[in-house]
Amino acid sequence: MIEVQHLSKRYGPFTAVDDVSFNVGAGEILGFLGPNGAGKTTTMRIITGYMPATDGAVSVAGYDVFSQPIEAKKRTGYLPETPPLYPDMTVRDYVTFVARIKGVPAREVKSRVEDVMRKTHVADMASRHCGKLSKGYKQRVGLAQALIHNPDVLVLDEPTAGLDPKQIIEARQLITELGGSHTVVLSTHILPEVSQTCHRVVIINKGKVVAVDTPANLTARLRGSETLYLQVHAPGADVAAGLSHVAGVTRVKADLHDNGLAAVEVDSEQGRDVRRELAAAVVHQGWGLLELRPMRMSLEDIFLSLTTEDAGDAVEPAAPAPATEAADA
Ligand SMILES: Nc1ncnc2c1ncn2[C@@H]1O[C@H](COP(=O)(O)OP(=O)(O)O)[C@@H](O)[C@H]1O
Ligand SMILES: [Mg+2]
Repeated sequence: MIEVQHLSKRYGPFTAVDDVSFNVGAGEILGFLGPNGAGKTTTMRIITGYMPATDGAVSVAGYDVFSQPIEAKKRTGYLPETPPLYPDMTVRDYVTFVARIKGVPAREVKSRVEDVMRKTHVADMASRHCGKLSKGYKQRVGLAQALIHNPDVLVLDEPTAGLDPKQIIEARQLITELGGSHTVVLSTHILPEVSQTCHRVVIINKGKVVAVDTPANLTARLRGSETLYLQVHAPGADVAAGLSHVAGVTRVKADLHDNGLAAVEVDSEQGRDVRRELAAAVVHQGWGLLELRPMRMSLEDIFLSLTTEDAGDAVEPAAPAPATEAADA
């Protein structure tokens, strides 16, 4: 439904989006995850035809957004970071106004407006001025204007930013309801968002895609190779050599300190639990086993390892979130 190919955007000498490619299937909810300044908004503005690209191609429902902008825009609903509301218009008047601009046939406008206000749960505020609404309601009215022409594709830029926890849950429910009948791309810099709402995740940092996968696959890959951390007291011993023979162990990295303590990381084969064998091997060597625990990376760790400079090129798995809410930036 959406194809982004080798997309780049430069602002003068600065490259904000750098050779980004991904596809979004019909009915899919795709999460576009990255820290502030990653290039999410820039990419979304290009997908929605609000800004030209420097390089690359984007198509929506088979229409090229550069050469067939009208056809592409007819099929796209866009909720920018700040909902484009007129403070002095009532919600109903505003949504009606957008319906007319977007070319909803005159005889359908009234029913479409009521329908969309019901869907986005703003009907009880229909006569309220947009400027008087809470942040959560403003966001929903923003969603209503994006939905009014029943587009195939919805592009939502940080739809839950600035909402309180209750509003965030409501917004997620709404987005989940919209998936299926719409293809949705939403951006966020908050990790739990993607696993709770999205079918697939594109992680972007400094304009580059660093990982693409489903939350489920990312979790599976995360569980696949288990890393254990051990603290061993073994003065003068070659701890790595002593543990690398344990059946199922694929890698051992040991840092021996002067006091005889070794900090050891051990990777094992997929799905194989080597904790008992490792503990036995340590004891068998006559060493002291002070600590043994899994080093499973949290989503935050993975995200950091993917988005910090020294992470190299390795694409590490990301995972659905533990139920912690990242702090707002
Ligand atoms: N109009 C602009 N002119 C120059 N630089 C810009 C402009 N818009 C965005 N940028 C820069 O491009 C980078 C990506 O910005 P943006 O797409 O807004 O990121 P995100 O939405 O992921 O926070 C940032 O470093 C930002 O400062
Ligand atoms: Mg942004």
